[in-house]
Amino acid sequence: MITCKGRSEILRMERATRVVQEVLAECVAACQPGVSTEEIDRIAAEGIRSRGAKAAFPGYRGYPKTICVSVNEEVVHGIPSARRKLREGDIVGLDLGAIVDGYYGDAARTALVGAVPEKVRTLVVETRRALSAGVEAVRVGGRVGDIGAAVEAVAREHGFGVVREFVGHGIGTALHEEPQVPNYGPAGKGEPIREGMTLAIEPMFNLGTAKVRVGPDGWTVTTLDGRPSAHWEHTVVATASGPVVLGFGRYTADGVVPGAPDESEYPDAAAPLAGGAVA
Ligand code: MF3
Ligand code: CO
Repeated sequence: MITCKGRSEILRMERATRVVQEVLAECVAACQPGVSTEEIDRIAAEGIRSRGAKAAFPGYRGYPKTICVSVNEEVVHGIPSARRKLREGDIVGLDLGAIVDGYYGDAARTALVGAVPEKVRTLVVETRRALSAGVEAVRVGGRVGDIGAAVEAVAREHGFGVVREFVGHGIGTALHEEPQVPNYGPAGKGEPIREGMTLAIEPMFNLGTAKVRVGPDGWTVTTLDGRPSAHWEHTVVATASGPVVLGFGRYTADGVVPGAPDESEYPDAAAPLAGGAVA
């Protein structure tokens, strides 16, 4: 079932996602040559703890750490390790979730370590632009397929591989709720987007093949051809006056207006939806 959230729930998600965004900024800053991905995990864990939130990923389906750190050909779900040290030219996907008052926030960024080859840099920047395009497609009265279509269009411009095995998702009192939010597919299809719907949008683009596999640790997803992959994610709420990126600000034609929008922009009450089941 898809649940739409009311103001008090959205405000809790706003706080959870704000913690995630603040801590992600610290993690991005820590992505320097010689730093281990385990150190990034420590920064993430302490950042969440010190803000009075709870980390969302530890124990999720047995995941062992606070943050996912996915370097270069690693797409998502890289497990931090003291042995993996960052090097100049790496790109580093950082994916983090937090819980505040029972509500989840989920976001990801891809950091650049020093000078990164031009093509790889373009992959990172354009994956972020695809996230923006996906966010802008979160319009009440539109459909979830509009998001994937907007994201995929950016990948097509460059011939990037769009990962199909992992998708965005509804989010709220669980990390993963319905509906699924693919990064591909036709516009005008899928669930109708309603006021108060909260979605995690997360494009994963590959420089080469779209094909991926899960590694021997049961978690780390890598590209089949070993070429780099980038990942960006926002938690977004649909409002009557347009999409709001939780923990970040409102999207406008001129980009993000920082800060939380006025509370009055959020719908009053949570409205459970009938007939929201997805395949
Ligand atoms: N942000 C990711 C997602 O939305 C990561 C969750 S995997 C976890 O699916 F196990 F680390 F939690
Ligand atoms: Co997610």
